[in-house]
Amino acid sequence: MDFEYQVLDLPAAAKLKTDALLILVPEGVKVGSDAVSFLLGHALKSGDFSAKPGRLLAAYRVAGVSADRLIFVGIGEGLVRHVRSGLQAALAQLKGDKVKKLGVVLATPNASAGVVRTVVQTVAEATYLFTTSKPKAEARSLKSLILGLPETPDAQTQQAFERAVAVVAGVELAKEWGNRPGNMATPTLLGKAAEALAEGSKKISCEVLTPREVAKLGMGSFMAVAQGSEEPLRFIVLNYQGAAKSEAPIVLVGKGITFDTGGISLKPGAEMDEMKFDMCGAASVLGTFKALAALQPTLNVVGLIPAAENMPDGKAIKPGDVVTSMSGQSIEILNTDAEGRLVLCDALTYAERFKPRAVVDIATLTGACVIALGGVRSGLFSTSDSLAQALLAAGETSHDLAWRMPLDEDYAEGLKSNFADVANVAGRAGGSITAAKFLQRFAAAFPWAHLDIAGTAWKSGAAKGATGRPVPLLVDYLLAEAAATPIPNKAKKAKKKA
Ligand code: BES
Ligand code: MN
Ligand code: ZN
Repeated sequence: MDFEYQVLDLPAAAKLKTDALLILVPEGVKVGSDAVSFLLGHALKSGDFSAKPGRLLAAYRVAGVSADRLIFVGIGEGLVRHVRSGLQAALAQLKGDKVKKLGVVLATPNASAGVVRTVVQTVAEATYLFTTSKPKAEARSLKSLILGLPETPDAQTQQAFERAVAVVAGVELAKEWGNRPGNMATPTLLGKAAEALAEGSKKISCEVLTPREVAKLGMGSFMAVAQGSEEPLRFIVLNYQGAAKSEAPIVLVGKGITFDTGGISLKPGAEMDEMKFDMCGAASVLGTFKALAALQPTLNVVGLIPAAENMPDGKAIKPGDVVTSMSGQSIEILNTDAEGRLVLCDALTYAERFKPRAVVDIATLTGACVIALGGVRSGLFSTSDSLAQALLAAGETSHDLAWRMPLDEDYAEGLKSNFADVANVAGRAGGSITAAKFLQRFAAAFPWAHLDIAGTAWKSGAAKGATGRPVPLLVDYLLAEAAATPIPNKAKKAKKKA
């Protein structure tokens, strides 16, 4: 889909040739005498329309208006959530109309960065269609969005637009891989998707390690998860180099369980299909790299994806089996369904070689996190207050929210084992926290954060599908880090002088 913005007042909007034209109308709007304004003025005066959030008024082939369909959308005081809900309602009305070219015009005195971003992301979200496993389905009809702004955007608003377009591309890549059924998103195919990203960008390189190479590294925990499947594991290493090689990177680690049956600790049958989404952490890393390729910020980012399928068979791990992780710590696998932490722990150890300035892992890790936070906020755990603050703030600016959870040492009590250095599960209580406590043992060498996205990565029910979260949060976090990092040479010179 193409996105562009134009400076458009209402008279110019009336002449915009699109299939549908949405006019976002704030409280206290000033109307002129063009065709759009004339209609809007009458509708407001008669009370058939008001700028209250959620109000809509639709018209068809209005004289003097070039667009076929015209919808006034009330956005109240122009708050982001009202712009979003208003747009969603208007786009729902257009569903099935095969709109190819859409105009969205802000009838506000100025355009905030937040509103610009919301329009781009909401239009993309509402028109997204997954068709990979539906070859006969028609693709998304929308080809282009023209965003009409009241005035020439300042640098900040322009940047918000560019970021939003890049975030949409990242979110849609994450949705594509998240939504694919397990047989169309194997570890091998995820590896190919990562390689394709590297092919598409000069700043990204990619290496995909095979079972033999992973064995050489001593990733006994990761390998244990994969051993019950016919699908060979892959360990994906992505590298985005936007700054000098000497700059310490931020490492993103994405859980890539392409299907989670639970293994010998088999999951119940109901809704087990949703465990195809168990690689949404990995998909969010791919999506974030897609956005990095477009935005090219000045920083270095490494993406690590341990990808495997968790299956029960004759070779599968059994409850009670003890394996040795790459870190040297032995792990008693009391429950083969707690496999995410088993693949992540070796990836965290691998991350040490990059001497990272921060490591963030992203995982659909626990059902307990869904119980704790539902589908609104992702669970955030961190050993660093400043890293936690940065991620929470990125969640706010991107409207992709997280909530900080505790890591008190007392929560690790249940992970004690008589047969290994650590067990892979504790009791049911505080399940998302004990999972994080397990991971923390492998993340002592760097500032670390863990995002449990079990509740936010996909939706169930009629709207079943991947959300692409937390790509918006991750992109905002990385861009803020890039902006905050001093240019290394200058910093060095300054030090010498002093
Ligand atoms: N992938 C699941 C977590 C999950 C479950 C996410 C349901 C979303 C919905 C993970 O591998 C898992 O099975 N976790 C277990 C851990 C338990 C055995 C300690 C869980 O949450 O039940
Ligand atoms: Mn599991
Ligand atoms: Zn899982």
